[in-house]
Amino acid sequence: MTILVTGGAGYIGSVTVEQLRQARRPVAVLDNLSRGHRAAVARDVPLYVGDISNRELIEQIVREQGITACIHFAALALVPESVTHPALYYDNNVHRCQVLLDALCEFGVRYVVFSSTCATYGLPKAIPMPEDHPQQPITPYGWSKLFVERMLADYDRAYGLRFVALRYFNAAGATDDHGEDHEPETHLIPNVLRVALGKATAVQVYGNDYSTPDGTAVRDYIHVSDLAAAHIAALDALAAGQASAFLNLGTGRGHSVLEVIAAARRITGHPIPIQIGARRPGDAPQLVADPRAAHAYLDWRPVCSDLEHIIASAWRWHCRRPNGYPRDEAAQAISEPSPEALPSARQCHQG
Ligand SMILES: NC(=O)c1ccc[n+]([C@@H]2O[C@H](COP(=O)([O-])OP(=O)(O)OC[C@H]3O[C@@H](n4cnc5c(N)ncnc54)[C@H](O)[C@@H]3O)[C@@H](O)[C@H]2O)c1
Repeated sequence: MTILVTGGAGYIGSVTVEQLRQARRPVAVLDNLSRGHRAAVARDVPLYVGDISNRELIEQIVREQGITACIHFAALALVPESVTHPALYYDNNVHRCQVLLDALCEFGVRYVVFSSTCATYGLPKAIPMPEDHPQQPITPYGWSKLFVERMLADYDRAYGLRFVALRYFNAAGATDDHGEDHEPETHLIPNVLRVALGKATAVQVYGNDYSTPDGTAVRDYIHVSDLAAAHIAALDALAAGQASAFLNLGTGRGHSVLEVIAAARRITGHPIPIQIGARRPGDAPQLVADPRAAHAYLDWRPVCSDLEHIIASAWRWHCRRPNGYPRDEAAQAISEPSPEALPSARQCHQG
């Protein structure tokens, strides 16, 4: 009854592994560490360093660990990179994913939870966006995820592979042990906190002339712990016999770039200067989920996705690990200082 987590050394995967272990669910991680961190995987979690396209390795993991379900996070996830290197994205996110799905089917794994994205919708025609919103991605990244959604629907019909494809809006926040450490970092909140940490002088704001209340882009931020809980609920729903589903994971509430920066200023005590730049091509004014289908299907609600909590948790993690995870290959997994030894949020940027 072990769950295979692909991409478990990455941001959302590592938090999901943390929660699975707290729930005493046996887990094994498969990650090629191309974008993840060995130190994000606790030492007592079986970590297979390899690629999702390695069929023999998947067979070995399924047999050794008794895998019955897979949460598939492993993917490349940098939207601008997908525009300049689409081949990389179609190879990694679609072709290699197909090898993984074929192997899972072949070796008897019947349940898959898949990391999809609101980028499969493209530009919004209505806010909030329900699951039946038209899907017209505007980037190869979005298309790569939509192709896999399609593959999953066809594999369900033909091979009985049951799945939940979770379309995340903006994952954010951290736990005490796991946070966001991407290179390059393209997400707003860690980039705002980089300024508070003294690692950048100002936050770039891409456009302040959108048709939103303060002119900056609005996004639906969901705490990574709430995302992780939704994955576990999705596995339980599948195991209880529920049908395959596509579900939005968001809060249904949007926050503008300037609102995020204002909250980060309050939490960090840092002035966080901004630089207003041009809009980025393809950025929608607003992306906000209609989350009701996920509430009903998963019997789940986000409980830590209040913006202040998201930013405070991320700030705490970045203060603990201002340089991210240790890069040393032999790095110890999570070895934590005691909470008392941590600086308070306000001290952090000064120290
Ligand atoms: N972060 C977000 O806001 C967000 C939003 C929507 C969807 N998603 C999706 O959620 C998933 C996780 O996102 P994240 O932010 O944690 O990304 P991440 O880059 O932190 O983690 C992805 C992990 O997958 C691994 N990986 C990539 N390709 C692999 C391969 N071929 N074989 C084995 N391992 C491989 C990487 O090494 C990395 O550890 C991705 O599928 C992403 O597309 C993320």
